[in-house]
Amino acid sequence: MEKIPYKIYLSEDEMPKYWFNLRSKMKELPEPFVNPGTGEYCTKEELLPVFCEDLVDQELNTTDTYIEIPEEIRNYYKMYRPSPLVRAYSLEKALDTPAEIYYKYEGTNTSGSHKLNSAAAQAYYAKKQGLSSLTTETGAGQWGTALSMACAHFNLDLSVYMVKVSADQKPHRRAVMETYGAKVIASPSNTTNVGRKILAETPDTNGSLGCAISEAIEVAVTTDSCKYVLGSVLNHVGLHQSIIGLETKTACDKYDIKPDIIIGCAGGGSNLLGLIAPFMADKIEGKNDIDFVAIEPASCPSLTRGRYALDFGDTGKTTPLIRMYTLGSGFMPSPNHAGGLRYHGMSPIISKLYHDGYIRAKSYIQNEVFEAAVQFARIEGILPAPESSHAIKAAIDEALACKESGEKKTIIFGLTGTGYFDMTAYTNYNSGNMTDYIPTDEDLQKGFDSLPQVNQK
Ligand SMILES: Cc1ncc(COP(=O)(O)O)c(C=O)c1O
Repeated sequence: MEKIPYKIYLSEDEMPKYWFNLRSKMKELPEPFVNPGTGEYCTKEELLPVFCEDLVDQELNTTDTYIEIPEEIRNYYKMYRPSPLVRAYSLEKALDTPAEIYYKYEGTNTSGSHKLNSAAAQAYYAKKQGLSSLTTETGAGQWGTALSMACAHFNLDLSVYMVKVSADQKPHRRAVMETYGAKVIASPSNTTNVGRKILAETPDTNGSLGCAISEAIEVAVTTDSCKYVLGSVLNHVGLHQSIIGLETKTACDKYDIKPDIIIGCAGGGSNLLGLIAPFMADKIEGKNDIDFVAIEPASCPSLTRGRYALDFGDTGKTTPLIRMYTLGSGFMPSPNHAGGLRYHGMSPIISKLYHDGYIRAKSYIQNEVFEAAVQFARIEGILPAPESSHAIKAAIDEALACKESGEKKTIIFGLTGTGYFDMTAYTNYNSGNMTDYIPTDEDLQKGFDSLPQVNQK
């Protein structure tokens, strides 16, 4: 077998022409969305006022394994994909581990993360439907930046509700979004009813993804020719992110790489779902026994300490109910620097796979995550996003466990993005001022108390 290069690059011809719909391969499906008013499963018609039609079709599609990627989106993808699968030779050497470590590096586009894979698709379908504008929320700012790039390309107006703590920490993220033509509003804001209500109840709030989602949805349903788009959690977002896993699998097959462990950070679950999708399908069919690991912050532990329950996707309780691992839509996470992981819930597909034992989950405090981030930056050269650094920390721990046991495992992790706009976080860490806050059981109970009582039909 030829030596594996530092970076495995596929050619444009090897890029996937179809997304991979993991639900078609699952033995048991995640529960459909529930209408909180009627207790019945949501219909397509009920989702159409909020979302674009093609995206609703993808959201509800549980049967087709392969869904064609339209040519316009493939052409957009070609501007920054295929992304490399990197063999972390330097890290392996520095750790003195027998393990082989690989990372799929999604930080090669200007927005800096995997979010562009779904942003491009969602903007394309909005344009195809003849819409003139979109609204969204952004946590860390990665999704908002990706969507502003995509909206600029497909010629759509965009309003981004940016979680207040991130807007304060990252003024330059805002500047990038504005450069691509987006309007950025710190959330909660006084531009929406739900924002005004949240501000009246908790004037000192740092905001959360849940609040920002409520604001963006309100604008979408009250504005003509405008729809809401979401950067994670939903099934169609995970579908678009399957390009990550498909490219990874092609690269693995080409070089006969057989992963033992695949690790991803989990905020709303989209990068993890995308990365594991084709490998998980094989596991379900008994063709591999890969150990899939979801990593989350100890400050927002949806999988490791949450409940598998029907819950709202947003703080304002405007979305359909989603059966997922959740801390309760009323849970207000502490201002962790990994803004993209500060979400109370989790992808319903990831939740179901976790519930059924196909995935395990682990949480880390942010000081240990940043220790791994700095170590990785110094050894491999890439400055990682705090979110991605959760996966780095786990990969390093697994590689060190191999050193201990002498096992030569193959580890793949998702390096979802770069951390250039996270310098406040790095400065805090470098100066020893980073604090860790782990919610107590009483804190979590307050969130669980906000779970809706549902009379399901
Ligand atoms: C760099 C990066 N990685 C990961 C995430 C987590 O999102 P998800 O779990 O949907 O992949 C985010 C979210 O903003 C992000 O910006």
